[in-house]
Amino acid sequence: MQDLVEKIESLKKEIKEAKLSSSEEIEKYRIRFLGTKGLVKELMGEMKHVSSDLKKEFGARLNEFKVFAEQKYEEHKSESSHKTSHVKPKEDDTLPGIPNETGARHPIQITMNKMISIFANIGFTVAEGPEIEDEWHNFNALNLPEDHPARDMQDTFYIAKPEQSDKEWLLRTHTSSVQVRVMKEGKLPIRQIFPGRVYRNETISARAHCFFHQVEGLYIDEKVSFADLKQTLYYFVKEMFGDAVKVRFRPSYFPFTEPSAEMDVSCFICDSKGCNVCKHTGWVEILGCGMVHPNVLTNCGIDAEKYTGFAWGMGVERTTMMQYGIKDIRVLSENDVRFLAQFKGVV
Ligand code: DAH
Repeated sequence: MQDLVEKIESLKKEIKEAKLSSSEEIEKYRIRFLGTKGLVKELMGEMKHVSSDLKKEFGARLNEFKVFAEQKYEEHKSESSHKTSHVKPKEDDTLPGIPNETGARHPIQITMNKMISIFANIGFTVAEGPEIEDEWHNFNALNLPEDHPARDMQDTFYIAKPEQSDKEWLLRTHTSSVQVRVMKEGKLPIRQIFPGRVYRNETISARAHCFFHQVEGLYIDEKVSFADLKQTLYYFVKEMFGDAVKVRFRPSYFPFTEPSAEMDVSCFICDSKGCNVCKHTGWVEILGCGMVHPNVLTNCGIDAEKYTGFAWGMGVERTTMMQYGIKDIRVLSENDVRFLAQFKGVV
């Protein structure tokens, strides 16, 4: 019996000193002490060798030992679960990474950038002007005096007049107002384009919006002719739409140019067979142009006897819609990411 008591004491000591940090170690402990073939069971089996007068005392010691071993097991278990709940789980290196979402350029910007680079290749630089303009820059200087009927061609958004101002203010109806600003600076020759947003009080539909974009161009020097205008715009069309596209000029009227023309390209959506985009004519109008009217040159302080020049203004929306087969102009300003995400990677 004495050696059994000693064995219990030494096992108790071992349990007290045991440092069990992992769940594997705790499980090993359980098997060693409390398992079906563990030490508690083994000691119980010794009971039959203990003489009957000592059985009671040994039974009590053994029971106490069993409770002690069980208690320690529970303590270790709860300590370890407490610990693990605060430990960050090991990272799983096989999980896919978090994608780095890239944005997309807006299709209007993509078209404008292409137009800018085509004209940059033949020496045109870029300038910009304000979207809030006064009447003089938007109309008067461009040979459109107050009572001129052509002002009705462009339904204008006027802006409440600031108290101190003696001018009428408006949202520019075309980028031609930037021509005026550049000419007034007086640095000649001028070979520039002016991309930007313009506003008109139009009913919004699939084909029209109250704001849209234009790229205006201006070339002023000595001896500039209508032939220069045509060649410049032919070059542009081939670069923009490809060699297969056909071009035609139609005589037109703008107060700021004389003579004036409009330029159409063959509709490549339907191969000129007739569709909604070309209104079943086979042709799509892309710009207005002409030789800068001498009155405009004079209004802007340029000697109209010495200098001539040409100008054009083209819409960006229509070209963009043709290029990408977009049927409704409104999607270009709704900022729906499902639409915009389609332009990822296009530059
Ligand atoms: N400003 C005109 C418009 O918005 C377009 C235009 C026509 C611009 C002829 C020009 C031009 O510079 O010469 O409808």
